[in-house]
Amino acid sequence: FEDTVVVAVDGPAGSGKSSVSKAVARKLGYAYLDTGAAYRAFAWHAQRAGVELEEQASVVSALPSFELDEATDPDHFFVRVGGTDVTDAIREPAVTGVVSLVARVPDVRAALTAIFRRIASETAAPGIVIEGRDITTVVAPDARVRVLLTASEEVRMGRRSAELTGYSPEAVGEQLKARDRADSRVVDFMTAADGVTTVDSTELNFDETVDAVIAVIQSRS
Ligand code: CDP
Ligand code: CDP
Repeated sequence: FEDTVVVAVDGPAGSGKSSVSKAVARKLGYAYLDTGAAYRAFAWHAQRAGVELEEQASVVSALPSFELDEATDPDHFFVRVGGTDVTDAIREPAVTGVVSLVARVPDVRAALTAIFRRIASETAAPGIVIEGRDITTVVAPDARVRVLLTASEEVRMGRRSAELTGYSPEAVGEQLKARDRADSRVVDFMTAADGVTTVDSTELNFDETVDAVIAVIQSRS
């Protein structure tokens, strides 16, 4: 599908990638791919498979049995692993706390990257918004539109703890910081690569951030 516009969005946790990308996709009639959800789904699967999460070879052993079914319709989002709906389970702190351990494994990154590229290549026009950490640099470096979504650490922690009821803001903030630190060792999602447009949402509300990303897309069409 050569006419399909690919919009690549990267950024740290809590920058607004998922919610903003989904809203952008909805407004433009594009498909939407949450790659973090796939990493979370694999972490969930690896945990259930009983692998030693600290051991990279053990984590890799869970790849052949990983059957991912992830929706790309922004209006009907779900993630299934081997037929089990894990849409909500993958947002639990138990998964969030271990996802970086599986995401650092090169074979895992290669396998998931291949899945993302296949999904993108099978998506019909007008387009698809793909969001994650390495979309602008590794998964889709040739995307027509590439955006780095940022926000100050304080604002990102505030947004994330507002979403999670029942957990202390301090604990949520610490987990977010630790995860960004671990993820940063694997991929750089804090600085914009050549040709990538930065959208800083620190001072923008949700709708303004969506409009800012749509403006970048329109400037490239
Ligand atoms: O939504 P949030 O920013 O909290 O995280 P996410 O996008 O759901 O991603 C969860 C985890 O998946 C990240 O902490 C990374 O470890 C990993 N990830 C990755 O390594 N590469 C991607 N393209 C997307 C996510
Ligand atoms: O996917 P990522 O971790 O980057 O962030 P998210 O889960 O999409 O966004 C975290 C929260 O920030 C969501 O509840 C968004 O509605 C909110 N948000 C906001 O309040 N203002 C913005 N300008 C962007 C996102």
